[in-house]
Amino acid sequence: MRAGSPRLVSAPVGDHADQRASEPDSEARSEVPGVLSVWDADPALGRVVLSVEQIAKRVAELGKMITADYASRPPLLVGVLKGAFMFLADLAREIQLPLELDFMAVSSYGRSTKTSGVVRILKDLDIDLTGRHVLIVEDILDSGLTLSYLRKSLLARGPESLAVCSLLVKRSVQPRPDLELAYVGFEIEPEFVVGYGLDVAERYRNLPDIRVYVTGEPT
Ligand code: IMP
Ligand code: MG
Repeated sequence: MRAGSPRLVSAPVGDHADQRASEPDSEARSEVPGVLSVWDADPALGRVVLSVEQIAKRVAELGKMITADYASRPPLLVGVLKGAFMFLADLAREIQLPLELDFMAVSSYGRSTKTSGVVRILKDLDIDLTGRHVLIVEDILDSGLTLSYLRKSLLARGPESLAVCSLLVKRSVQPRPDLELAYVGFEIEPEFVVGYGLDVAERYRNLPDIRVYVTGEPT
């Protein structure tokens, strides 16, 4: 299983070293109390939008596409922290190329579930983009404001090419050819979602699947 699944019984010891350790993750998850049930019991979490299995399957597909498209020009993946950290970690392992990684941290939402219209660079890249084939790896595209800002900022640094891979795109987003969305994991309804790296006020990033945040304001 992918990194998105919880390691429930990684090193069983003593009398309770049982057979669950060797069972498939999907069975083990539902049988072990206190792991996923903490999420199921949370009233702020609504329905599962994307399961661990759906995410893993799609990330593998994206990895294959990127591997084929960038075979002759190994990419520099730019992960947008913090939301894309889990997606990037999984995606990078599905790309069979000698790639490089760098990170940017931006903040556009603060503690709210609505965009503030202000994008702040909290951490800039370490690697020079000149002549590089840059692939921005984003968690989710809502208004497109964050990505639009990022693209402008990175384009000004002279990359050979610049494309975007976003795990999620909210359906409300108008087509934006200028954003060069080369790879999209899933189109989802315009609801506020959390998990698999996505947060609300820094919470739920470690939720292994992606769920609706039910007490959030509509976006
Ligand atoms: P945009 O600028 O409106 O496209 O918002 C993009 C950024 O806002 C994403 O990179 C996320 O960090 C955050 N964001 C947008 N929608 C959601 C959501 O449903 N859940 C969690 N974060 C979100
Ligand atoms: Mg983000």
